[in-house]
Amino acid sequence: MNSSSMTPKEIVEYLDKYVIGQGGAKKVIAIALRNRWRRMQLEPSMAQEVTPKNILMIGSTGVGKTEIARRLAKMMSLPFIKVEASKYTEVGFVGRDVESMVRDLALEALSIVKKEESEKNREKIEAYVENKIIEKLLPPLPTGASEEKQTSYDRAFAKKQEQLANGELDNLKIEIEVSGASIDVSGAGNVPPEMAEVQESIIQVIGGMNKKKKKEVSVKEAKKLLEYEAQKELFNEDELKQKALEKARSGGIIFIDEIDKVAVSANSSSRQDPSKEGVQRDLLPIVEGSSVKTKVGQLDTDHILFIAAGAFHLSKPSDLIPELQGRFPLRVELDSLTKETLYRILTEPENSLVKQYEALLKVEGVELKFSEDALRAIANYSAIANEKTEDIGARRLHTVVERLLEDISFEADSMSGEVEVTKDLVDEKLSQLVESEDTTRYIL
Ligand SMILES: Nc1ncnc2c1ncn2[C@@H]1O[C@H](COP(=O)(O)OP(=O)(O)OP(=O)(O)O)[C@@H](O)[C@H]1O
Ligand SMILES: [Mg+2]
Repeated sequence: MNSSSMTPKEIVEYLDKYVIGQGGAKKVIAIALRNRWRRMQLEPSMAQEVTPKNILMIGSTGVGKTEIARRLAKMMSLPFIKVEASKYTEVGFVGRDVESMVRDLALEALSIVKKEESEKNREKIEAYVENKIIEKLLPPLPTGASEEKQTSYDRAFAKKQEQLANGELDNLKIEIEVSGASIDVSGAGNVPPEMAEVQESIIQVIGGMNKKKKKEVSVKEAKKLLEYEAQKELFNEDELKQKALEKARSGGIIFIDEIDKVAVSANSSSRQDPSKEGVQRDLLPIVEGSSVKTKVGQLDTDHILFIAAGAFHLSKPSDLIPELQGRFPLRVELDSLTKETLYRILTEPENSLVKQYEALLKVEGVELKFSEDALRAIANYSAIANEKTEDIGARRLHTVVERLLEDISFEADSMSGEVEVTKDLVDEKLSQLVESEDTTRYIL
């Protein structure tokens, strides 16, 4: 499925498989993504004017903000990265500066483009690898060889091709030529590109990176190494970079999680932390549109879509500096989870918690079965615990189920066959804990 042309309905449908409820947020995001695609169909002069409307997702902890981002990331064939605002520091302070998120996006775009190109040119790459290997095993004919020799050579070649394809030659040792190890000195984009360039050229001088090295490897390994060589030979690196930049420029999405952690509420003690406001200020030009130098090339951020998310427990969206608030015009609130949604989260998503535990214990030969009313009871106790103490959303399910299955998990290796988790068991394990607020606070 090509995610860039998915309709809003399809996007929501996809998210529904993993994230329960939160229809409002899903809808806004789906529309924003579709608008990117719509924009790409416009005439360039019009397209230039259409800038994305950035989104701010607000919802208390454990209601699915990061989960939505994670699922989007998996679905997207567009360059998409997720970063945590709390990881950045103001320019001038030691740490990652905000621009590095744009550099990461560029690298992500490049790797997507490379993958796409390799897939498109699968056959060419395979032919290249095959020829290189057979060349080693079968000395090529001198030019002007007789026709007879030529046909017997062709026959031998075909035979080797066949053997190579079905893995018969995998353990054979051959000597191949590969370029020197490409060392990624960028630290995944952490080093400013000016520095990275310097580092890289130093390493090239010292290590003679561009020189080819001979290496003895098995045919199996050679296949992998040569595939990498083939990409270098067959593709023009500059062209790939241009494509990647274009992709990132018009389709890139940066998800900034934990944005509330850089908000400074008026009456909090973190007022003393100058670097938080600095991070917000550094974010302004990037979100608004500026040009950032990356390893891939100069990347304009005007049309990159930013989605920010935060719980805003200790601070409010209005604690962000006004300029930044204004740059996230679309606000969506995620709902708190009720008993009913908790029940659905427990059972419905692909790879839901219940399915995970069933699979885990199956490894031990135990067939875990939850009765319907047991599941209801788990959701119920979780909701009560959330109400009585802090509301930690769906994460409560994890602590509750873990507690519930503690004994079974511990004994599983000596059990076998079907083990049913009944409502009685749930009540027995959890009712007392939930009754007293103190135990809830410490144990669940
Ligand atoms: N609506 C939901 N549907 C399915 N699973 C959910 C939902 N909400 C939360 N979960 C599950 O709960 C866990 C925590 O959710 P998530 O990481 O999305 O929380 P969050 O909203 O980002 O919270 P925080 O503000 O603390 O970062 C995840 O394992 C996720 O799968
Ligand atoms: Mg989160």
